[in-house]
Amino acid sequence: MSIVPLQQTEPPADPIDRLAAAHRAGHGLARPFYMDPTIFERDMERIFRRHWHCLAHASVIPNAGDFELFKLGDEQVILTRGADGAIHAMLNVCRHRGAEVCTKPKGNAKFFVCPYHAWTYTNDGALRAARLMPKDFDRAAHGLRKLHVRVASGLVFVSFAETPLDFDPIEQSLRTSCGQYGWGEAKVAHRELYAVQANWKLAVENYVECYHCGPAHPEYSQTHALEQPLHMIEKLNEAMEARTCALGIDVGSGDHWRNSAGGHEAIHTFRYALYDGVSTGSEDGKPVAPLMGRFSAYDGGVTSIHLGGTSFLVCYPDHGMIYRFIPKTVDTCEMELIWLVRGDAEEGRDYDLSRLTWLWKVTTEEDKKIIEHTARGVRSHYFVPGPIAPMEQNELRYINWYLEEIARA
Ligand code: FES
Ligand SMILES: [Fe+2]
Repeated sequence: MSIVPLQQTEPPADPIDRLAAAHRAGHGLARPFYMDPTIFERDMERIFRRHWHCLAHASVIPNAGDFELFKLGDEQVILTRGADGAIHAMLNVCRHRGAEVCTKPKGNAKFFVCPYHAWTYTNDGALRAARLMPKDFDRAAHGLRKLHVRVASGLVFVSFAETPLDFDPIEQSLRTSCGQYGWGEAKVAHRELYAVQANWKLAVENYVECYHCGPAHPEYSQTHALEQPLHMIEKLNEAMEARTCALGIDVGSGDHWRNSAGGHEAIHTFRYALYDGVSTGSEDGKPVAPLMGRFSAYDGGVTSIHLGGTSFLVCYPDHGMIYRFIPKTVDTCEMELIWLVRGDAEEGRDYDLSRLTWLWKVTTEEDKKIIEHTARGVRSHYFVPGPIAPMEQNELRYINWYLEEIARA
């Protein structure tokens, strides 16, 4: 009798790859993924600097010369509107010795003058003047480093990658979702930044599953059917689809957790129901602002979009929500919420800001708490990730997507 030796595969040499290879299928991520600075660096390299991010709605810089500074992890991005109306994004890093050239959070400027030695950049990033430099100094080669920018249905996206993931299908997809809700002509009614004492993945994981909605979000669960087990949502959706869907919103499109190996950015659009009699995401389910875009009536549903690693959008017929996740350090992140209303809506006349923002403020404060509870819990040396519940399938897919992305150089 011959003995066939067992095929032994060597564990990967890289400690992060080894940890990813040891991941237990169907379970959450292990403790180091939330605490290890070397994994955070890997996240930044292979997710953050590879994928597109929604930074803002274009209406925050309406005029030529307007700018706003965005801080993301170690990076600072200056978003500007040039004289021709085009939007530019560049790193806030002087090409001389690296000082921040923009020192204000927002404003209007034709030039950015570095506070160190006064190199002067135009608001599209070109180096205009560099004091006392030799005659043959090549100014054209020393503009601020530009990021790729795309504006789609009013949303401004940036990519740090030298060769960004294909954005064309994303633009097309957003046209059939946010575009139908009139987001291209919308305006920002309110923004709120939440500092969260947790690794950014804990925040995203929390966003993508609604298993917690019942226990953690009593207010949200009164109006939104997403916290129901899947078979109940499908039934509710049938009723919702029967009432609606003549609007040409392309639902069920894309696959958020398709990995980027094929060079494409991932997007997923889906619809879910509000309970009968509920018009929108508000405290009492009643409208909070004028109908947007192609909507002439409330349709009983919500359109939700998951895009890349950090950008999430929610469309109600009368307002929109942009949800941005911003990694800061290995154990801190931020979440920015941006409320959109119809471009001609006036606060006080057409909407009441506290009614408009009530539901997602309450919900996000609850989320911040449970994310931070989790961050403190997973610090324990005894934390062992448990099984992902049937209602958390989207989180399971996120975890698998994440592991594939960080394993791919
Ligand atoms: S570091 Fe900016 S001019 Fe010197
Ligand atoms: Fe939540």
